[in-house]
Amino acid sequence: MAPANHVYPVIWNDDRVLLIDQNRLPNEYAVVDVHRYEDMAWAIETMIVRGAPAIGVAAAYGVYLGAREIQASDRSKFLSQLEAVAKRLRSTRPTAVNLFWAIERMLKTAHQTLGSVDHLKTVLLETAKKINAEDLQTCQQIGDYGLEALPSSPSKLCLLTHCNAGALATAGYGTALGVVRSAWKAGRLARVYADETRPRLQGARLTAWECVQEGIPVTVITDSMAAHCMQRGMIDAVVVGADRIAANGDTANKIGTYSVALVARAHKIPFFVAAPLSTIDFKISDGSQIPIEERHPSEIYAIGETTLCPVGAEFYNPAFDVTPADLITAIITEYGAVAPADLRDQLAAKQVV
Ligand code: MRU
Repeated sequence: MAPANHVYPVIWNDDRVLLIDQNRLPNEYAVVDVHRYEDMAWAIETMIVRGAPAIGVAAAYGVYLGAREIQASDRSKFLSQLEAVAKRLRSTRPTAVNLFWAIERMLKTAHQTLGSVDHLKTVLLETAKKINAEDLQTCQQIGDYGLEALPSSPSKLCLLTHCNAGALATAGYGTALGVVRSAWKAGRLARVYADETRPRLQGARLTAWECVQEGIPVTVITDSMAAHCMQRGMIDAVVVGADRIAANGDTANKIGTYSVALVARAHKIPFFVAAPLSTIDFKISDGSQIPIEERHPSEIYAIGETTLCPVGAEFYNPAFDVTPADLITAIITEYGAVAPADLRDQLAAKQVV
């Protein structure tokens, strides 16, 4: 059964986590029950749950599920076993920093909470729920700040997005697609162009699905068509999400984002990155230090049961690329939209970094 309107990819339900299986969309709306932390790690690795903020939320619940499985009642034994849980969850995907951010927040909570191990477990569940609820609110703020940052003309905009930075990729609402949603609600959106996003087709499968659920006009194009659409004057602005933003504003996002940014610059089209504070990694100075995940070559050489390439060919399958800060018009966080060069100062002035 498909949901009416609201999409929440990660939900705590009584004693388990429910995940929308994003590998089955759009053909099937299926929900997976997760009781154990190892199953959560597997769900992140296999991309049942994906998108930087959503895997952060999922990992936070994963830490709690792992805590619940620990038998030790001695605090220091409990904490050292919890570190093993965290280590497994950290090993799932390397690029999106929200994963590491959420796990660290959970561990810090465990270390700072006094009382029995049972009490610690209760506080960890509350913290995971809080991370989940905060992300939902954050996305709505990003959407509204993004709406303010969009070009003032034409009155109804055609926006291009890459990959899926929607409700499915967050606790709900989305980052880039949050901006699209806010523009739609404000009557400022004519149409979304969704790059299909080879090889895993998050744009064609997930962004288009989300838009169709809400009646937002969406046109799917192949990745190679973006330049043509810009040349024809069909795109007013680009809005994408992010997996990790370095201190200087260099931004890792789904493979292909860099090409979109280059062609947007060539056509003088504004290029926005929408992401929460939890996606910014101030520990690294620039994008060259962002670890880029490489995934299995079968994502390139096969679609379902069909093999596309000859035996003997070799493959390179990086899942993300880095867009240099100077190609980005503004980064939109829950604290507002700002030029990449001013990101640290803006957030420092608001006392959040
Ligand atoms: O490999 P994925 O599907 O997890 O990659 C997702 C993206 O690149 C998104 O654009 C990014 O995580 C932002 S999600 C709000």
